[in-house]
Amino acid sequence: EAAEKGGYPHFMLKEINEQPAAITATVSPRVEDGMPELRIPALTDEVLRGIGRVHLVGCGTAMHAGMVGKSAIEALARVPAEVDIASEFRYRDPILEKNDLVIIISQSGETSDTLAALKLARSRGVPVLAIVNVVGSSIARAADYVMYTYAGPEIAVASTKAYTVQMCVLYLFALRLAYARGRLSETETRRYTAQLLHAPEVIKPRLADCEQIKYLASRYVNTQSCFFIGRGFDYALSLEGSLKLKEISYVHSDAYAAGELKHGTISLITDGVPVIALATQKQVYEKTISNAKETRSRGARVLLFTTKDAVVPEGVADAVVRLDEYEDILMPLQLIVPLQLFAYYMAVLRGCDVDKPRNLAKSVTVE
Ligand code: G6P
Repeated sequence: EAAEKGGYPHFMLKEINEQPAAITATVSPRVEDGMPELRIPALTDEVLRGIGRVHLVGCGTAMHAGMVGKSAIEALARVPAEVDIASEFRYRDPILEKNDLVIIISQSGETSDTLAALKLARSRGVPVLAIVNVVGSSIARAADYVMYTYAGPEIAVASTKAYTVQMCVLYLFALRLAYARGRLSETETRRYTAQLLHAPEVIKPRLADCEQIKYLASRYVNTQSCFFIGRGFDYALSLEGSLKLKEISYVHSDAYAAGELKHGTISLITDGVPVIALATQKQVYEKTISNAKETRSRGARVLLFTTKDAVVPEGVADAVVRLDEYEDILMPLQLIVPLQLFAYYMAVLRGCDVDKPRNLAKSVTVE
């Protein structure tokens, strides 16, 4: 097993570090002459132009990737998109139209609720595109179309590299959809695609920053409860960062859309409570900063994740983690890395079984 870990103490840390390679393996075969190619003969640009609505469905981390996909699809292609938890989708009698597309997201391709959601969509005559990591898995076999992620085997229960490449495939899809529908010019499509291909270089410095994250984790290690806040893409990342932290370190954690704080959560903010504020999106930067400030004035210890050039006013944060400037829409690919490392080091420092957290399974094949 030590050999399989390739010199890393845990599979999770190995897999976090494999993300640059996983991104290249997943994205580069789908870029031709600088343009995104889905490589699904039936999903021509003409078919993409006819899509009415996109439904993204998955469980856990895969569903969180779907949230990023929804935001990218709506922002770039202006096609309405919905995200569903598979166990909700399958029992809520979802409204599905013939010209909709259901995107099913799963690392293992075996999650029982996700497979049931797929079958429901197909039984309604709606085409299903599966984004799956395991070749030949049940979901891959049952879908109309498959776009594989090439993360390689993921052993740690907490999903890391599979999530990142799920987002990459969703970005490729959103870019092609936007181009096909004339929402993005060829020049703009090429520019975003080049930025996506460049993602491994963007995240390598974040992997190299692990000592800073380890140090920050050591300052928060004794915490009982913690909150993640963000807006837009940063809200989707708050959910994923919070899930990573709670599943492996057993610290209670909640994620809130930053603007929702004052509608409830702020009553839980007292002296010393950690608030992890994600502020990478320029359009809502000031808003999130003001929310972070509100929590700090009530005693929160604010750990702020923002970009290199962002101006952080005095009195907002106890510590700041800086990311490199990058396309706002693609920022989740960079931001997720320090959040994964934060969860990882919290779990290690708390003496938890990082790769096999209690009560959790890598693949949930029963309902
Ligand atoms: C389990 C795993 C999670 C994963 C979820 C969905 O709960 O512990 O890490 O996100 O299942 O799995 P899937 O294989 O469908 O992506």
